[in-house]
Amino acid sequence: MKLARPGCTGVALDFSPTMLEKACERFAGDESVRVVEHDLGKPLPDLEGTFDTVVSCFAIHHLEDQRKRELYEEVFSLLEPGGVLCNLEHVSSPTARLHERFLDALGLTANEEDPSNRLLDIETQLRWLREIGFVDVDCHWKWLELALFGGVKPGA
Ligand SMILES: C[S@@+](CC[C@H](N)C(=O)[O-])C[C@H]1O[C@@H](n2cnc3c(N)ncnc32)[C@H](O)[C@@H]1O
Repeated sequence: MKLARPGCTGVALDFSPTMLEKACERFAGDESVRVVEHDLGKPLPDLEGTFDTVVSCFAIHHLEDQRKRELYEEVFSLLEPGGVLCNLEHVSSPTARLHERFLDALGLTANEEDPSNRLLDIETQLRWLREIGFVDVDCHWKWLELALFGGVKPGA
């Protein structure tokens, strides 16, 4: 984002001390990025404003399903009209066989799966985004259980 839009400002959220430390190091001295410790399992804190874009990468699949939906609702209310949600995510496979195929492709066994994964299918998540009010909701790219999807807040 910063590479494509060098003048933009942003807020980075995570709850892992390691990730927060890396983010602080990466943006040290750069006042355009604020790093905030937050557990996405809880309602978003006051982020002091609205946003043109909200981007998430392989994080929301760790949340319980109900919290995923609440978070999408909170993101919708934080976006400016015309603002975009873009989520690169680990989603569930439609069948156990396809899940095995995904693990195979990654060279993983079922025992090596991350126990904190709470995988949910892409169709449900796209439907939720439409129900919440996002438009142009789509899955733009998918490979097995990895999907890039999102939508736009109408009204620009
Ligand atoms: C697979 S890593 C992806 C990290 C980074 N977004 C990336 O794409 O390289 C998952 C990230 O989600 C964060 N995460 C998981 N559950 C979270 C939660 N409840 N609140 C905040 N961050 C969470 C983890 O700390 C970790 O940084």
